[in-house]
Amino acid sequence: MCGIVGYIGDQQASKIIIDGLKRLEYRGYDSAGLAVINGELKIKKGKGKVASLEKMITPSENGTVGIGHTRWATHGEPNDINSHPHTGQNGKLALVHNGIIENYNTLKKKLSDQGYTFYSETDTEVLTKLIESFLEKDASDLKKAVQLALHQVNGTYGIALVHSDFPDQIVVARKGSPLLLGVGEGEMLIASDASAVAAYTDKVIYLDDGEIAVIRKDDYTVESADQIELSKEIHELALSLEEIEKGGYDHFMLKEIFEQPKALSDCLRGRINAEEGTVTLGGIEGIMDQLVNARRIIIAACGTSWHSGLVGEYLFEYLAKVPVEVEYASEFRYKEQLIGEGDVMIVISQSGETADTLAALREAKSRGALVLGVVNVVGSTIARETDAGVYIHAGPEIGVASTKAFTAQVTVLTMMAIKLGLYKKTIDNKEAKKLIGELAQIPAKIEEILESTDEIKEISNLFSYAPNFLYLGRSYSFPVALEGALKLKEISYIHAEGYPAAEMKHGPIALIDEMMPVVVIAATQHTNDKMISNIEEVRARKGRIIAITNPGNEEVEDLAEFKSIVPETMDVLSPLLTVIPLQLLSYYIAVNRGCNVDQPRNLAKSVTVE
Ligand code: F6R
Repeated sequence: MCGIVGYIGDQQASKIIIDGLKRLEYRGYDSAGLAVINGELKIKKGKGKVASLEKMITPSENGTVGIGHTRWATHGEPNDINSHPHTGQNGKLALVHNGIIENYNTLKKKLSDQGYTFYSETDTEVLTKLIESFLEKDASDLKKAVQLALHQVNGTYGIALVHSDFPDQIVVARKGSPLLLGVGEGEMLIASDASAVAAYTDKVIYLDDGEIAVIRKDDYTVESADQIELSKEIHELALSLEEIEKGGYDHFMLKEIFEQPKALSDCLRGRINAEEGTVTLGGIEGIMDQLVNARRIIIAACGTSWHSGLVGEYLFEYLAKVPVEVEYASEFRYKEQLIGEGDVMIVISQSGETADTLAALREAKSRGALVLGVVNVVGSTIARETDAGVYIHAGPEIGVASTKAFTAQVTVLTMMAIKLGLYKKTIDNKEAKKLIGELAQIPAKIEEILESTDEIKEISNLFSYAPNFLYLGRSYSFPVALEGALKLKEISYIHAEGYPAAEMKHGPIALIDEMMPVVVIAATQHTNDKMISNIEEVRARKGRIIAITNPGNEEVEDLAEFKSIVPETMDVLSPLLTVIPLQLLSYYIAVNRGCNVDQPRNLAKSVTVE
């Protein structure tokens, strides 16, 4: 949420900042801005996308040090004045911020009493002027002024600031919002995620909470919260530019949907052996004993990752016979905290930065639970703070609507559940071989679905202007119904609900009439008869049935008005296939409606505020 980029070196900073902001735009796209030092501080900013900002840049913004920001509004509506960077009273200091300063009202009042005037509604302007107030008392040390100001602040921040009296440095600090340094040859970058620096360097340093860094073109220093100088590890980035570009697709979302066969092959590579019936997951081999003895597993996540967690619940309970609870990470902390030693929490997060998920992780850890991560972004905060975990290796996911991360998360959860089942002897080697053999075929089966998208396009064309959609599924297909509905509402703004198919009778059935498209996911054998009854119930109310089903399921095919066929697989693996037509359905509908698929309104990719 909110993207931050900064550059110091010998090149034109504005060009590199704009380039980085474009790559970070998925983190927020309400407004964009930059500050460059060209003798004095030069600011360009405004409501709208990075492309609009780019058009505002003139030779006046030439300079080799600067910072930029793309905003997802928290305090104050998205307009020019609320855009970042914010400046101090004397026009020398500029600051960009990702996060929330919770006590900004109190600080604002104090600063107003000291004579400061505020022009925006943001918490960030308050922090900027607070830093300036410390600098006015001692104008010799920018970093010290930042440290003193941050001592007075409650909340979360990733900040970067430049000052025209200190043109050789950028100061950055983090607490709760991600920031990294990119180490180049005679140049340094800062960014809220690695995609913004990957074109310039493959060496990065991840800042941890409480740390503050001063970067210059040839060096950097990092200090801990208690002002001890730290020697930070330099990580090598394994991120190619191709991975973070559209590569000929109209949208990142479409590219990512079509990347799923590769993403899942990468996720499975070297981890499964169908002939021997084994699963090797380097990240959790060392904690298997604790996992085997877990009293219960609590899965905490948000949004799409929460849906993959729900699939995980079915998988772990069925294959490893361990009780599982799936919690919205945001709600977990408000419950009576019964978690403790002997419990295992699995946190699932594509970005590895989701604030609510991070908070649940920290709560569970502080109470003695073992916390495992299922994360995509390598080196992210959640990946670093968990006790152990398994990367999903789906590659960068840039479209705001999550697609390949969902299937890769479910793939990892499946491998974990098989592994645990083998350890606990709740499945035997023969069953494991069968499951793993089937799992290995999933990428090719997804490829098969993606080869013929005509049916889904036709359905999308017919229903693009429906005001509502209902999605129904049972068992493993229930979380898929939730995920299908979420995909549709977030990118096409059509109201959609997912339900366990039988729950329909307990309320939602009242909504069904000849105007209501009802997507039924009928691709699991053990629930087929019951799904057929539900389809009949919808038909009796004249609902328009769109069935996701398997070849040869004639009864379902006969009853449904429209159908999309996915290859057969074992019931436990079916979400990996049934979700694909639903991703495509929402994509094509959103395109038909002229929606901005990759940057849906009000959303941001990485939700780093609670
Ligand atoms: C929906 C979507 C969101 C995320 C949620 C969690 O398409 O992308 O619902 O799944 O914000 O994000 P992560 O997985 O990064 O923790």
